[in-house]
Amino acid sequence: MKKELIRLVDCTMAFDGEIVLNAINLTIHNKEFLTLLGPSGCGKTTTLRIIGGFETPTSGSVLFDGVRINEVPPHKRRVNTVFQKYALFPHLNVFENVAFGLRIPQSVPVTEGGKTRQKKVRLQEAEIGQRVQDALELVGLKGYHRRRVHQLSGGQQQRVAIARAIVNRPQVLLLDEPLGALDLKLRKEMQHELKEIQQQVGITFVYVTHDQEEALTMSDTVVVMNQGNIQQIGTPVDIYNEPVNAFVADFIGESNIIQGVMHRDNDVSFAGKRFLCVDSGFDPDQPVDVVIRPEDVRLTAPKDGQLRGTVNSVTFKGVFYEIYVDVGELEWMVHSTAAPKVGDEVGLCLTPEDIHVMDRPDLFPEGAEALTIEDIDPEPDFEDKYVDEEPPEAEL
Ligand SMILES: Nc1ncnc2c1ncn2[C@@H]1O[C@H](COP(=O)(O)OP(=O)(O)O)[C@@H](O)[C@H]1O
Ligand SMILES: [Mg+2]
Repeated sequence: MKKELIRLVDCTMAFDGEIVLNAINLTIHNKEFLTLLGPSGCGKTTTLRIIGGFETPTSGSVLFDGVRINEVPPHKRRVNTVFQKYALFPHLNVFENVAFGLRIPQSVPVTEGGKTRQKKVRLQEAEIGQRVQDALELVGLKGYHRRRVHQLSGGQQQRVAIARAIVNRPQVLLLDEPLGALDLKLRKEMQHELKEIQQQVGITFVYVTHDQEEALTMSDTVVVMNQGNIQQIGTPVDIYNEPVNAFVADFIGESNIIQGVMHRDNDVSFAGKRFLCVDSGFDPDQPVDVVIRPEDVRLTAPKDGQLRGTVNSVTFKGVFYEIYVDVGELEWMVHSTAAPKVGDEVGLCLTPEDIHVMDRPDLFPEGAEALTIEDIDPEPDFEDKYVDEEPPEAEL
C-alpha cells in the first residue's frame, strides 16, 4: 500500500457565501497519478488551488504528511503547478524558462548547535545546467534549450511548462487541464508521455480534466466530482465498471439509464420486464436507476430477445456501429460490430452481470436553491430544516 501524502478533511470552499466545495474528503498517496474529473464548474480547479496553497478552505483541513498546512503559502509547499495557460516567459529562451525557478534562492533548514534555522542557498550554475538538461531530456526536448518560446509549437511549449515545473523536484505536481489547448492527436500522444514522465520521476501527479477518456487512460485513481461534491473515488476500471450512481455512469462513457424497481435481491424490473441481476442489498420494491452500457447489449433475432425494438439509426464509429433502438417509450443505445438496417425489428439481450442497479439519489432536486454557507450547519438537524414544510419526497 502506498503511503498517504496529502489529505483533505471536510474541506468546504465558499465564495461570496456560495458553496463551491461541499465538505470533501480525499486522500492522495505518494507517487499516485490521481485525476479530478467532472464537468465544468464542479470545483476541480478550486480543489487543486487548495492543495497548491492558492486558496485557503473556508472550513476543513489540508494535511501534508499528516501536518496541517492550511496557512502555509504556495512557495513553502513541496508542490508545483502547471496551469491551464502555461504562461512561459516570451523573452527568455527554453533553457532560461526552465532554469527560472532554480535561480531563486531556496530556504533550507540547517541545524547548528542543536538549533534549526532557515538559510537561503543558491544553486551552482553547473548544477542548474545539469538539472535543466535532465528535465528537457525527460520531456523530449533535448537540444531545444536555445530556442525562443515563440519558435515552439503548442505541444513543445507545454513540454517546456512541464520541464519548468519538475525541475525543482517537487513532491507533487498539480496539472490543471494542461492538454486542453492541444489538438486531439497531440493530446493523445502527450497523455502517454505525461504518464511516462510521472513514472520516471516518481512523483505524485494531481491532474484535472473534464475529459473522461483522458482520466481513464492516465490515472491510478479517478475522483469524479459534481457540483462541489465527490461522487466516487476509484481505479479507472472500478469507476467504469461499478459506477456508484447514474451521474458517474453517465459521465464516464455512455450508458443507458433506465428507471426501475428492485423487488428483492437479484430481482429487478425495468422497461416493462423482470430481470435477474447480481445486485443486492436494496429495500423491497425500492425505486432504482438501472445502468446498462451500450457495448453490453447483445442484438439478436426479435424472437430471441428479452426486449424487442425497432432500429432508429445506425452510425459507423470505426470499430463498432452505434445503433439506437426504440423499445417502447425508451430509446436504447447499442454498440455492435454487426450493422442492422434502420427499421429492422431486433431483439435485445442482457446477462445479469451487465445490469447495474443503483440507488437513485435526489441530490439536487429540481428547483432547489444553490447551497449557501448557512446550509453547512455544524450539527445538521433534519427536523429543523424542514420545520415549515413536508420533507421532499423522492421522485419516482
Ligand atoms: N475566485 C472565485 N470567486 C468566485 N467564484 C469562484 C471563484 N473561483 C471559482 N469560483 C466558482 O466556483 C465554482 C467552481 O469553479 P472551479 O473550481 O473553477 O470549477 P472547475 O475547475 O471544475 O471548472 C464555479 O461556479 C466558479 O464560478
Ligand atoms: Mg477548472
